[in-house]
Amino acid sequence: MSGTFDGLTVAISGGASGIGAAAADAFAARGANIAVLDLNANPDHWSQTCDVSDDHQVRQAVAAVAAHFGGIDVLVNNAGIGAVGTVEENSDKQWFRVLDVNVLGMVRLARACLPHLRESSAPAIVNTSSIAATAGLVKRALYSASKGAVHSLTMAMAADHVAEGIRVNCVEPGTADTPWVQRLLDQAEDPAAERARLEARQPTGRLVSAEEVAAAIVYLADPSNKALTGTALAVDGGMSG
Ligand code: NAI
Repeated sequence: MSGTFDGLTVAISGGASGIGAAAADAFAARGANIAVLDLNANPDHWSQTCDVSDDHQVRQAVAAVAAHFGGIDVLVNNAGIGAVGTVEENSDKQWFRVLDVNVLGMVRLARACLPHLRESSAPAIVNTSSIAATAGLVKRALYSASKGAVHSLTMAMAADHVAEGIRVNCVEPGTADTPWVQRLLDQAEDPAAERARLEARQPTGRLVSAEEVAAAIVYLADPSNKALTGTALAVDGGMSG
């Protein structure tokens, strides 16, 4: 629906690739100003280089977005990194790193954006969690714990900020066809067989597309969906159903 986000500014972490890049395109198609916050620039959209594990960089990048566009209406907290392993296989150092990016990265961005969201007529935060938050996936202890934390953070923030009209929701994608998953497949002993296994795991028999996840993010951020807060929306081809 073109024009839904006319005049609104959407800041998207991890917006240079995969789900975040698809979200940037989808919001832009609906009239939004896009600010990509990522380690890398997105050549199609206004970007600020920013490492979400660095609070100083986050604050500077958010200030730059607000100065450039005159405010921030929607935060899409999407940057994340993966981890493979059981609790015996991942070190403390790996745990601290992944939680720093996947959980604290979202906290830092939310903290920096909230003062701007309070000035907005249509404030919303959408966090990217994962089906891993609730499904027991093999060798994903650390990643799952980080995404479970994103789920809980979403619910707590929704409660904290509902009175000021700021809606907070999350998407929980199944395996999505993004550069991230392609990198994992490239490392597999038999990439074609691994892809087939991941496809078969979802009842639809295919991977979710980045655009399908982006559409759910746009839906959660849509200012007309005023009753939606504290929601986790699964986009997983029926895997959690
Ligand atoms: P991707 O690897 O294609 O894109 C991730 C983006 O985040 C990249 O542009 C990267 O530069 C950026 N990024 C990584 N670390 C960062 C940091 N410290 N600071 C700023 N930016 C950083 O990955 P994809 O698949 O698009 O994933 C996006 C989100 O979706 C992640 O939070 C991921 O956990 C989540 N997710 C992905 C699923 C999948 O199957 N692809 C399934 C469920 C959730």
